[in-house]
Amino acid sequence: MTNKDLLTNRIQKMKDLDWGNLPFGYIKTNYNVRCYYRDGKWGEIEVCSDEYIRMHMAAACLHYGQEGFEGLKAYRCPDGKIRLFRPDANAERLQQTAHGICMAPVPTDLFIEMCEKVVRLNQEWIPTYESGATLYLRPLLIGTSAQVGVSPSKDYMFLIFVTPVGPYFKGGFQSNPYAITRDFDRSAPLGTGKYKVGGNYAASLLAHTIAHDKGYASEFYLDAKEKKYIDECGAANFFGIKNNTYITPKSTSILPSITNRSLMQIAEDLGLKVERRPIAEEELETFEEAGACGTAAVISPISYIDDLDTGKRYNFGAEPGPISRKLYETLRGIQYGTIEDKHGWTRVVIE
Ligand SMILES: Cc1ncc(COP(=O)(O)O)c(C=O)c1O
Repeated sequence: MTNKDLLTNRIQKMKDLDWGNLPFGYIKTNYNVRCYYRDGKWGEIEVCSDEYIRMHMAAACLHYGQEGFEGLKAYRCPDGKIRLFRPDANAERLQQTAHGICMAPVPTDLFIEMCEKVVRLNQEWIPTYESGATLYLRPLLIGTSAQVGVSPSKDYMFLIFVTPVGPYFKGGFQSNPYAITRDFDRSAPLGTGKYKVGGNYAASLLAHTIAHDKGYASEFYLDAKEKKYIDECGAANFFGIKNNTYITPKSTSILPSITNRSLMQIAEDLGLKVERRPIAEEELETFEEAGACGTAAVISPISYIDDLDTGKRYNFGAEPGPISRKLYETLRGIQYGTIEDKHGWTRVVIE
């Protein structure tokens, strides 16, 4: 097969996928990239077409949960360029995660080089702009030393795979209901909630399944110590809007969301006040708008929050509010290169 045939084939493959209806699932792409930490240093970047990892059955990540990950997206923009959004912030958060559970940190340059490489290698898997779908990057850092004692691994593997994911909102920007749970904590104030480690997600699965089975988009956690303040909603940060102010929880148990950090800046740019402070559950009643925010949806507006124990319902309206919509459109516009990126958040990977 000639190079031209290969390219035609690839473009054909792109056209054959119904990007707009893809779920948030896994689809095999061409390559992943890997790097190994041995003898106290990172090696060369390796390109791999194998989806599987060969590892020792006594690997530290399998037994003692020494693993951290990240999630970010590559966007095919209307100007034809491919952009990443704040990969340096994901690199920094993975370094914090590594520090939090005693893993070897991945240097920012290495992290970004691998992000760019894996996107370039899988170009035909980057969905069309019109579909609203994106290419999701999943960086993963695991401790691989064979050991049975509880201690930090000596060796690590860092890999990034990609998979195309469909748009979060298949029928347009919509609001969803959430439910407060007191029966589960996903993390503790001095625990690992502020790191992106698998254990936090394992701890949330049962609560999430129960909320989902009851018809809610996701579960809402209160602070584990007093069960008084709002922490997070599933795998997303929370924000509320009132009196032209963007208010989001300050808590040591929640993941520092890059989307939330960006929305706080945009809110400020738009002339809103921004407050990061504890939010007691009762304050929910006073918010004009509320939303969950994260890479997956940017903003998932909240229609209402049910407190399953007290029967109290906090209503924010069936339709997304004007400020949530403005924040959503602004951040998406920056990600897709249609709104000026005045904070230098995006990184063009393919011109
Ligand atoms: C627990 C949790 N909170 C918040 C977020 C949102 O973070 P980000 O905006 O960086 O995607 C995520 C998703 O990564 C998450 O898993």
